[in-house]
Amino acid sequence: MVAQRLDGKACAASVEKELHERIAACASAGIQPHLAVVIVGDDPASHVYVNSKVKACQRLGIKSTHIELPSAASEDEVRAVIHRLNDDAELHGILVQSPLPPHMDEEALTDLINPRKDVDGFHPENLGRLVQGRLDGMLPCTPSGVMRMLQWAGMDLTGKRAVVLGRSRIVGNPQALLLGAKGADATVTVVHSRTENAQAICAQADVVVAAIGRPEMVRSDWIKDGAVVVDVGINRVDDATRERGWRLAGDVHPEVAKKASWLSPVPGGVGPMTIAMLMENTVRAAETFQSE
Ligand code: GUN
Repeated sequence: MVAQRLDGKACAASVEKELHERIAACASAGIQPHLAVVIVGDDPASHVYVNSKVKACQRLGIKSTHIELPSAASEDEVRAVIHRLNDDAELHGILVQSPLPPHMDEEALTDLINPRKDVDGFHPENLGRLVQGRLDGMLPCTPSGVMRMLQWAGMDLTGKRAVVLGRSRIVGNPQALLLGAKGADATVTVVHSRTENAQAICAQADVVVAAIGRPEMVRSDWIKDGAVVVDVGINRVDDATRERGWRLAGDVHPEVAKKASWLSPVPGGVGPMTIAMLMENTVRAAETFQSE
């Protein structure tokens, strides 16, 4: 078997097409969706992600404000920025790029964001709603992008065994909740660094979402014939054959394509979907603002 490509780029393009219409409707009502992206420090990968987010805003006609602070900035400075953005009535979405420098308390800063502007879906109010099975709040972008991509490929998850590899606040935990929520209806197991027999558990899954941040760890003997595999990993690995000395690798080894029925590529899989969902959350925040 050669896996079909779970093409996040194509799916994201279809999401953007719908957003164009919604953004035009906002414009008719005199509103331009507006997203602020805050980045602290000089982590090169984070700067690449933030630039992709700003470019997506430009493509769609969403206003973006890009705020950069040095890695030596204090937590109080970031707090002040968040308060200012919360108070700005012309601004609908706030995203603070993770990771923050180690001297900052990322969760405490997330708590300060107005939940209605929390387009990342990381505020406890939004995550709490997700735990309650209420899917109408701001949902975290990567897990909701994975769900949208599975839907787009016509996947019926009802009663299927799903394994989520990883239990992070940003991906693994919310992903497990979304897969098991009413409407998706998968039976979910979370596999993490302390799980016994991780490989054997994974090998029973109909759907695997890999979000562990370990390059190419999931090999074909972890995967059942015909399983659907979503690779959330985006890791830089040394590669002397490349001019720049590195390449991007997912959490899933390319040999899995011979076993899976569907596999999302890296890059071009989950990455574009994360951005599309961020744009959708921003537009939704602007629409909500408009209807208040
Ligand atoms: N860092 C990696 N992924 C994300 C994300 O989805 N949102 C934020 N804010 N930071 C990230």
